[in-house]
Amino acid sequence: TTMTLALASEENRAPALAGVRSHAHRLASIHLRDLLAAPDRSTQWTLDAGPLHADFSRQRIDLDAVQSLEVLAQASGFEAARTALFAGDIVNPTEGRPALHSALRGVGGDASIAADVTAQRTRLTQLATRLRSGQLSGFSGAPLTALVCIGIGGSDLGPRLVCDALAAPSDFTVRFVANVDPDDLARELAGLDPHRTAIAVISKTFTTRETLANARAACAWLQAAGCPQPSLARHLIGVTAAPHAAQAWGIATEQLLEFREWVGGRYSLWSPVGIGIATACGPTAFDALLAGAALIDRHFRDEPLNRNLPARMGLISVWNRAFMNLPSQAMIPYAERLRLLPAWIQQLVMESNGKSAALDGGLADLKTAPVIWGASGTNAQHSFFQQLHQGPDIVPVDFVLVRRSRSPAAYEGDDRQRILLANGLAQAAALALGQSADANDRHRDFPGNRPSTTIVLPELDATSLGALLACYEHATFTAATVLGINPFDQFGVELGTVLASRVERALSGESVEHLDASTRALIERLR
Ligand code: F6P
Repeated sequence: TTMTLALASEENRAPALAGVRSHAHRLASIHLRDLLAAPDRSTQWTLDAGPLHADFSRQRIDLDAVQSLEVLAQASGFEAARTALFAGDIVNPTEGRPALHSALRGVGGDASIAADVTAQRTRLTQLATRLRSGQLSGFSGAPLTALVCIGIGGSDLGPRLVCDALAAPSDFTVRFVANVDPDDLARELAGLDPHRTAIAVISKTFTTRETLANARAACAWLQAAGCPQPSLARHLIGVTAAPHAAQAWGIATEQLLEFREWVGGRYSLWSPVGIGIATACGPTAFDALLAGAALIDRHFRDEPLNRNLPARMGLISVWNRAFMNLPSQAMIPYAERLRLLPAWIQQLVMESNGKSAALDGGLADLKTAPVIWGASGTNAQHSFFQQLHQGPDIVPVDFVLVRRSRSPAAYEGDDRQRILLANGLAQAAALALGQSADANDRHRDFPGNRPSTTIVLPELDATSLGALLACYEHATFTAATVLGINPFDQFGVELGTVLASRVERALSGESVEHLDASTRALIERLR
């Protein structure tokens, strides 16, 4: 593990950058309508990987331009970075760590990593199975029948999304609490029986203020219901890469699930952080999720750039942000069970690539991550799509369509799934093609030329979902290599956290030096 990611040599990269820029300049004056009119457009621009099908034909790009992006990727060290990622080399140089989330899916890393992963997975499966079968009991001897997962950011968003996407109402009750706002825990505990509720405290570092404060409040809820202090540990499960901190906090060794430092928080749903998934959806579904992700790991690792779906996604995101100058990107899943997908991708992309420092410590020479936002369709059509069609900024969209619905038809001729899919397809077409109004009616003019990618899943099962999420992970990594940045650190979150502890003291009445006048005035108001 001596190899680290390093910025590629300027000598190769500068001409490659100039090449992409000249194509961007050329394409700026070509309407998508004209690109789409080319004979092979709809077949030349699709890629398949595992269960995923992606259609890039509605991007404002042509073959010459995409090739120039591939040249840029090569000149930026993409191949070496990808090899380093799967080899378990230090691809996170600022923290001196590998990033081996793919090893959690059985791809990459060495034999000792694989053995470690298997051991941790076995413990996860055993614990989830015991919970699901009512073998664990709480302080009064009643079986535990609900699990409240307390975690935030990467220790929350992924499992929350997967459970929302896959869990059936009949499954073991699993709820999620992230916000330190007391209302979050209060609302999620409502209706649960403290005698029968397990609490998973999920934190890679086991130092996150919000998570530990909520966990303490959950313990107080158990105690208020009569749970004696020594029995608390029966209700508590800890998931962490800092086992000593978790034990010191009060997690019993038998109920401690570990993962390693080389799993980044936002890449951790595949680790025991997924205890909520394994418990709500079952260990078999969790295995299928990992297997779906592994399909994409192997595809991403083995396919050349021009047939590599996640790599193409990553290159196109760089194209839109850095070369077409489009500052945001919308994620619109046409599937209500994927309504949390935008939030998960938002953390993935913005915490990974929302940076300005290049790997060599200089400034990145390209605009890095776009702002990621979005909501499920068709709902979004009735809220912000107006601006996507006619607003001053062009926003590239990722449409995610799921062919079959998980819910059966409710009545003969139930056409809701068809309505859903038709709307997704129609929006992508309308954004791309637009429509000119009668002369001089600006109000009804649709300029079109608004790019999108359409991703199709055959159905929303664990395998397809695992594949979809892994695809975005590798797309994000690809973008980072082209941008010359480290996607695996997140120093930007630190300043606010450090300041918050000073403000906390000030709010509790301590006099604290060096707070600015605005903060001091607001503290007075809040007190
Ligand atoms: O916001 C910073 C961050 O470190 C995220 O990267 C992480 O997912 C989240 O906080 C939670 O951290 P932990 O799992 O250590 O509680």
